[in-house]
Amino acid sequence: MKHILPPLPYDYAALEPHIDARTMKLHHDMHHASYVEKLNAELEKYPELDERTATWLLRNRGKVPEAARKSVHNNAGGHVNHSMLWRAMSPDGGGEPTGALADAIKRDFGSFAKFKTSFAEAGGKVFGSGWVWLVSVRQDGGKLQVETTTGHDNPLTQGHFPLLVNDVWEHAYYLKHENRRPEYLAGWWAVTNWEEAARRFVLASGAVAGELEDEAGLSVATMA
Ligand SMILES: [Fe+2]
Repeated sequence: MKHILPPLPYDYAALEPHIDARTMKLHHDMHHASYVEKLNAELEKYPELDERTATWLLRNRGKVPEAARKSVHNNAGGHVNHSMLWRAMSPDGGGEPTGALADAIKRDFGSFAKFKTSFAEAGGKVFGSGWVWLVSVRQDGGKLQVETTTGHDNPLTQGHFPLLVNDVWEHAYYLKHENRRPEYLAGWWAVTNWEEAARRFVLASGAVAGELEDEAGLSVATMA
């Protein structure tokens, strides 16, 4: 099995003016592509991992041979996280969540405005390269919380199910926003894909563990 770069679900310029086309092209075609290439190159040496999904590799770090463990974790994480990111944004995005997801955000953060503040502040505080997430914690009755990860770590490794994600690596915003990460995070709400977050919220609350793994970031269709 070769891991495959999923196509962007919209044009490079579709998220303008909030995210510029050049950033999107570099981010998808160079950065994400390189994680997929490096993951495939590393896995060529380990045929026993041939049928494993990128999500499985992330969640089962200890079962990857030690010599490849760090590289596989970083590149599988880069692949899964970016695959989630493209779907967490949409040219038709913005606005507010509705229905059960909106109710859960109000229940766990107090209000949508408080959630946005919490997410943006957490994203702004990530030191160096990392990610900011809205997750559902199954072990805590599906409670929603904001988390951050460094490098390409993913909350799935803690058993937390991501509903929404944003990338705070400099390559996600530096061309347009330079060092002004808070400005990028503030503008991001205009392209946030709440339909995708709501779809994942349903998965998080209803799916069994095996289904979660398949739906965690990559559908089977993104792999050959
Ligand atoms: Fe990125």
